[in-house]
Amino acid sequence: MFHSSSTPVNGSATEATHHQSTETAFKGNGVPPKPHVPRRDPVSGLVDQWHSQPTTVRVIHVGAGATGLCTAYKMRNKLQHYELVCYEKNDSIGGTWFENTYPGCACDVPAHVYTYTFLPNPKWSSYYAYSPEILEYFQKFYHDQNLEEFVKLKHKVLGAKWHEDKGQWEVEIEHGGCTFTDWCHILMNGSGLLNRWRWPDIKGLHLFKGPLMHSAHWDASIDYSGKRVAVLGTGSSSIQIVPQVQKAAQKVDCFLRSPTWIAPPMPRVPVETPTPEHPIPEEIPNPLVQQYFYKEHEIKHLEDNPEHHLKYRKQIEFAINRGFSIFYKGTEASRMAESYMRSEMIKRLGNHAELIEKLIPSWPVGCRRLTPGDGYLEALIQPNMECHFNEIECIDETGLSTSDGHHHEVDIIICATGFDMAWIPHFKLIGVNGIDIKKAWSPVPQSYLGIAAPGFPNYWVMNGPRGNLGNGTVLPCFEVQIEYVIEAAKKMQTERIRAMDVRADVTEKLNEYVDKWMETSVFSGKCRSWYKNNTVDGKVMCWGGSSIHYLKTLKTPRWEHYNIRYLGDDPWGFLGNGRIKAEVEDDFEGMTSYIRNSDHPWELH
Ligand SMILES: Cc1cc2nc3c(=O)[nH]c(=O)nc-3n(C[C@H](O)[C@H](O)[C@H](O)COP(=O)(O)OP(=O)(O)OC[C@H]3O[C@@H](n4cnc5c(N)ncnc54)[C@H](O)[C@@H]3O)c2cc1C
Ligand SMILES: NC(=O)c1ccc[n+]([C@@H]2O[C@H](COP(=O)([O-])OP(=O)(O)OC[C@H]3O[C@@H](n4cnc5c(N)ncnc54)[C@H](OP(=O)(O)O)[C@@H]3O)[C@@H](O)[C@H]2O)c1
Repeated sequence: MFHSSSTPVNGSATEATHHQSTETAFKGNGVPPKPHVPRRDPVSGLVDQWHSQPTTVRVIHVGAGATGLCTAYKMRNKLQHYELVCYEKNDSIGGTWFENTYPGCACDVPAHVYTYTFLPNPKWSSYYAYSPEILEYFQKFYHDQNLEEFVKLKHKVLGAKWHEDKGQWEVEIEHGGCTFTDWCHILMNGSGLLNRWRWPDIKGLHLFKGPLMHSAHWDASIDYSGKRVAVLGTGSSSIQIVPQVQKAAQKVDCFLRSPTWIAPPMPRVPVETPTPEHPIPEEIPNPLVQQYFYKEHEIKHLEDNPEHHLKYRKQIEFAINRGFSIFYKGTEASRMAESYMRSEMIKRLGNHAELIEKLIPSWPVGCRRLTPGDGYLEALIQPNMECHFNEIECIDETGLSTSDGHHHEVDIIICATGFDMAWIPHFKLIGVNGIDIKKAWSPVPQSYLGIAAPGFPNYWVMNGPRGNLGNGTVLPCFEVQIEYVIEAAKKMQTERIRAMDVRADVTEKLNEYVDKWMETSVFSGKCRSWYKNNTVDGKVMCWGGSSIHYLKTLKTPRWEHYNIRYLGDDPWGFLGNGRIKAEVEDDFEGMTSYIRNSDHPWELH
């Protein structure tokens, strides 16, 4: 790895490499690099450019899920003098929503707030959107915005290595059985936290002779109707799969190693659409209904009334943001949520004593990701369902053996057993002085605001460790993270910055804050969750606060938290030859913008 003969990209590399050209790199946007990276004047030694003349930055984004597409869109709107390529290992965009096709797969936040903030979709067919409709939303965005030019499908990033002298990442990519190297100034990791699914660690798992499936790698050709099916896990995936499988299978054996809170339906925000045909706004007989399919007139109303639609989205977002109070440990809100959920679970479990005892947790509500378990508890108590709470000791050709000595013969095994978390990237990442991120982030990730890592300059991860993971809606966070990187790119290209390396001391202090905050939160309760890397006592990798607290924190970049290294080690190189662009272009307005009739803001370009 990393023995390529290809050359780094033009642009803001060291002055020695300014005029080299890229030979092997894909041009993500099809445009050959046109960097204006002037040499120094041989007599004066000044950089021969106007003040802040931008260099071309080349960006590689790993992945083309929700973050990759948004990066392509926002960069085109907000950044100039750049090249972008999103390398995507799959043969389609969409990430999570392309890969997860198990029956019942749906979003756990209402559809109207699981969209980019700038791209509402009045046409959602249900309150909680199912996976195919979410994929369709992202595919439409991809095609409508002509983002194809930025995306290289079936290209897997194998690793990246930082070159301090060049201020660039050397990235190794696998495509069609061959590997090649590309270079970039900025490396964005949008490869998804929940993208590498995981078989359970059970002896003999692969001895099983029947179909063995993972929730995130579903095989739709396997027909489970009339079969005996085992489902492993009590996470969000299992909760969605079980009610679907239970309806069709002859018998379902559920292996519930850990308890879990099943969220009762959240009060639904109705679309209020009085029309001549329906003069009275929707009445919700039981506001605690779970899934809801929008009526045609409601969809039309949202389509025809963008302002009403906006208000509707805000009402849902407001309700979610307000609900954050339950995540504070030992508070009235948390106690009320727990007692309400307990009584709802008991009610829905039909007083099934063993399930009530074994499924209702002793740890607080919200410690693990809460999923609206539509029909899950009701399915568990059906006659064709058997729940097992003992550890699975081994699997053989015909079924599973549990620690109570029983053997459970089944036809199909479904493992809804979660993911290998990508707290540390699943590709190799070598930073300053050859340090591997696996080592730098051992035993715990030293993450700055969920996006940056000391010793890994010009590298930003989308919703990485200690980003906003545990509450609220995620897409606004992605957007603010992407905008943050765009601001960093602008800074780099106009100030002749070679490396932006987030400070270790500031990162350490930030993590002290998050650790302290975690003590106040249910996230640090005694549950096993992926927030803690599938442990009970590990450090919680969520952000220390509400999702809007995270948004506010990230919205204003604090560049003083970075060690900045410049091209030619010259922090003043961007001053150039003493002139600004307006002067060079003899631009009347540009040279007089501060002459005004009132004290309004002015700029010089
Ligand atoms: C089953 C499931 C349900 C979920 N439900 C919700 C929900 O209800 N609400 C919510 O807010 N969030 C949910 N999430 C989280 C969800 O992952 C995010 O909401 C969001 O879709 C993540 O987008 P992303 O672009 O960051 O990552 P992903 O969607 O994971 O996309 C990452 C992309 O990177 C690609 N990639 C990975 N490694 C490489 C590599 N080395 N080289 C090239 N390409 C690579 C992958 O193929 C993938 O296409 C769910 C996750 C799962 C797994
Ligand atoms: N929109 C949604 O509603 C939705 C749907 C799916 C996923 N998601 C997202 O994806 C995340 C992951 O969800 P997930 O359900 O796929 O994974 P998960 O939450 O990590 O759950 C995995 C489950 O498998 C169990 N398990 C693992 N190994 C086992 C073994 N050897 N024997 C028996 N059980 C075993 C775990 O038990 P232990 O707890 O005991 O380890 C756990 O119950 C969610 O938290 C959520 O963020 C969201």
